[in-house]
Amino acid sequence: VSRRYVLGAAGAAGLIAGGAGGAFGAAQLKEEPTALASVGSSSVPFYGNRQGGITTPAQARGHLVAFDLAAGAGRKGAAALLKRWSRAAEEMTAGRVPPGDNQIALDAGPSSLTVTFGFGRSFFAKTALAKQLPDALAPLPDFPSDELVAAHSNGDLWVQIGADDALVAFHALRVIQKEAGDGAARLRWQMNGFNRTPGATAEPRTARNLMGQVDGTDNPKQTDATFNERVFVPSSGSPEWMAGGSYAVVRRIRMLLDAWDDLSLERQEKVIGRRKSDGAPLSAGKGGTETTPVDLDKRDADGLPAIAADAHIRVAKPESNSGAAMLRRTFSYHDGFRDDGAPDAGLLFVAWQADPLKGFVPVQRKLDGGDGLSRFLRHESSGLFAVPGGAGKGEYVGQRLLE
Ligand code: HEM
Repeated sequence: VSRRYVLGAAGAAGLIAGGAGGAFGAAQLKEEPTALASVGSSSVPFYGNRQGGITTPAQARGHLVAFDLAAGAGRKGAAALLKRWSRAAEEMTAGRVPPGDNQIALDAGPSSLTVTFGFGRSFFAKTALAKQLPDALAPLPDFPSDELVAAHSNGDLWVQIGADDALVAFHALRVIQKEAGDGAARLRWQMNGFNRTPGATAEPRTARNLMGQVDGTDNPKQTDATFNERVFVPSSGSPEWMAGGSYAVVRRIRMLLDAWDDLSLERQEKVIGRRKSDGAPLSAGKGGTETTPVDLDKRDADGLPAIAADAHIRVAKPESNSGAAMLRRTFSYHDGFRDDGAPDAGLLFVAWQADPLKGFVPVQRKLDGGDGLSRFLRHESSGLFAVPGGAGKGEYVGQRLLE
């Protein structure tokens, strides 16, 4: 139990009322031991039909990491690695400390940690498992506007780490990296992301991205009748080892934030088709809320489409793409500043779907062809990974493929 100063009721009221007269006056602070908050004590089960980190709400911190198998590791080395990784992930997600641990997260709770494992196309030849290569792992097409850096794209193995505490997330990253060792797999690329901290807002709406937009509103919902078939490979699916799994498309998308910030609010809203303040669709006029259904046929007072022809939501909608849909579960990133002083920042876009050819690919083809938002984006890294179903108790992730 740690000790820290917390605001007493009077202090909190003072702050809410505008903090007149120095809300942080000493009289309003009292010293109290603070127990593990619900943010720290929350955990996501590791074992189950599906891996965590797909339908789990996106955590405040994320690390995306790709590894390449070491020469000669082969199928045996890969199986041993997935066994070690799964054991460590199970321990950490339950809030237990692995033996000989470096203690970075020693006094923290599991903080909704998830560790999700996937296989890239190149994994299968290196492990003599070419017969098990899913058709869905066909390389993504080249999109004309892509500016991909090969060294920061693809990879044999992919690990997505998420936690609501930065130290818990970094700890998991270190453990995963150490368990890989030099003999089994080498780090290929790594990206660090973040989202809003749980409890940081009184507004229940979806979180914002670094352009300031409410982002994630019209994601498929778990309550939708078609959710499972859109996001997860069915138990009758092929190959068999992918039952209950999903395909993750990973794109590091840099935002041209200086150019974006130069647009008027009205232009920014037209680019997306939603109000910036609360995410309501522009078809709702001055009213509506984030959850008001989008009306693509609605015209404004001048008779023009309320949601422009090139608005991001019009071009990306399933209705505009023969039903193509995906679950977007993203992290923002900021990697400092570029030589020209512009922020090297944007979105670590992770899209989950049962089949990338019915999810990401047709939608990105359309967006790349010229939605209003693409002018402010640069796709700089790309990966496609087969993420198998979860492990049962005593099993490891990928066991059905590797044994
Ligand atoms: C919707 C932002 C890239 C697919 C949205 C919305 C925002 C947004 C603000 C509206 C709210 C919502 O429904 O989530 C962004 C930003 C991107 C980006 C900032 C890049 C940095 C992409 C990419 C794809 C995509 C690469 C897929 C290839 C979608 C889809 C919707 C959507 C399917 C929902 C459309 C609907 O049904 O209304 N995006 N997006 N987005 N975006 Fe993006």
